[in-house]
Amino acid sequence: MRIKNICCIGAGYVGGPTMAVIAHKCPDIKVTIVDINEQRIADWNDENLDNLPVYEPGLADIVASARGRNLFFSTDVEKAIDEAQMIFISVNTPTKTYGLGKGKAADLKYIELCARQIAAVAKNDKIVVEKSTLPVRTAQAIKDILDNTGNGVQYQILSNPEFLAEGTAVQDLLNPDRVLIGGDTTKEGQEAIEALVEVYANWIPRENILTTNVWSSELSKLTANAFLAQRVSSINAISELCEKTGADVNEVAKAIGMDSRIGPKFLKASVGFGGSCFQKDILNLVYIAKSYGLHEVADYWEQVIIMNDHQKRRFASNIVRTLYNTVSGKKIAFLGWAFKKDTNDTRESAAIYVADDLLFEQANIAVYDPKVEKGTIYRDLDYLGTRPADANRENVTVYTDPYEACRDAHAIAILTEWDEFKQYDWQRIYDNMKKPAFVFDGRNILEGQKLEQIGFVFSEIGK
Ligand code: NAD
Ligand code: UDX
Repeated sequence: MRIKNICCIGAGYVGGPTMAVIAHKCPDIKVTIVDINEQRIADWNDENLDNLPVYEPGLADIVASARGRNLFFSTDVEKAIDEAQMIFISVNTPTKTYGLGKGKAADLKYIELCARQIAAVAKNDKIVVEKSTLPVRTAQAIKDILDNTGNGVQYQILSNPEFLAEGTAVQDLLNPDRVLIGGDTTKEGQEAIEALVEVYANWIPRENILTTNVWSSELSKLTANAFLAQRVSSINAISELCEKTGADVNEVAKAIGMDSRIGPKFLKASVGFGGSCFQKDILNLVYIAKSYGLHEVADYWEQVIIMNDHQKRRFASNIVRTLYNTVSGKKIAFLGWAFKKDTNDTRESAAIYVADDLLFEQANIAVYDPKVEKGTIYRDLDYLGTRPADANRENVTVYTDPYEACRDAHAIAILTEWDEFKQYDWQRIYDNMKKPAFVFDGRNILEGQKLEQIGFVFSEIGK
């Protein structure tokens, strides 16, 4: 079957960029991205490309190339489902905050709603593609719902997890290491796989398109994120040992990364990993392992999260300790709030937790981030529920000028590795700070020696 019409449910960080690239690369396929969030759809349709709801380098150009031609953003979910041959489900799958599996299992309510809506609307056969990251065996649940509540039409369920990383989403989508497609081993299943392979083959070499059974595909996504996060926790664990022993974590990372069996990537010590995926997916893996009675497996992976929480807390307590054991009433400037550079996404960002710890110590926090909006920062803190919303507004000030954020501060904490921080006039920043002036580099991006020559007291992770 040749696919001519695709619908994607969910216009978020994955649905938006992924479908924009498909539309850009496949001009003969009509791609409609739908969402129940009207504001999000309005933002995707905004004439001013600076207002797109997702910031990613290169994304605005891709959207501009296809929007209105074969790429459409809409709130009319039913119409898009009805017209499509292939429906991607790309809705959020956050950690459950209630009931059984609270704090660990993935909340599949949005996925189930999508399946029920597809079943209610579809009048002809459809291929349904899991793009969201899902617990292994979710495809069975989707199939049950479709088969039992549908109009008697035939469905094929594929798993096609997304491996893009935020900040490099467009490049990752244009040149992925691999595309993974899982499907049924039946003839119909294989035909559905082939239909999706053909879409990707418009720009991706076929040898980079891997096909597996559905369960392997679902589990591979959780496993990939668990392995990546594990590397960050591993180097962060070593960073603490470096601080005690005089070893330098950057040197250790370089030395081990040159072993081709280990490799150099994902060995950057930091204040801790953030983002919407790593923690959620590992917690989910832990939950799945426990539900099969695999307690040692669960404990093994849970340790990755425990180490990450420790690293964030350790960073905050180092600031307090270094500032003579009190930050009460002191201004601490945060450079960066996003969970990594080149994105406006702040979900699970380490900055949120470091700020929370310092607010408990009665610090005044001044935040500057080049892409994150003020409202998002307050929302992130309010969401923790650890203090009244008023207290967050009273003690956290958001700046649009980094020099003003740092003025009269006792210390600066680098929470995101934005490139622009390296270009600042650090002498000017120093001159306007309280003395002694401290810099805590949570991303190991600044040149410590230069800052020390200016007069800063400088500290970084793992030294
Ligand atoms: P997101 O929150 O940015 O976007 C999800 C969108 O789905 C929201 O706009 C929401 O309004 C919409 N939605 C929810 N229910 C809906 C419904 N019934 N009908 C229509 N729209 C609905 O989430 P995201 O970051 O794009 O993540 C989506 C999935 O992709 C998750 O499972 C995530 O784990 C996975 N993933 C994310 C990344 C990433 O970097 N963010 C990478 C790989 C995989
Ligand atoms: C991750 C996966 O990389 C991606 O394949 C998947 O599809 C979604 O989840 P993402 O969370 O967007 O992507 O960004 P990633 O580059 O993986 O970084 C995650 C966090 O780890 C960030 O906070 C980053 O700063 C941190 N990190 C990463 C480190 O602290 N050190 C490193 O060496 C690498």
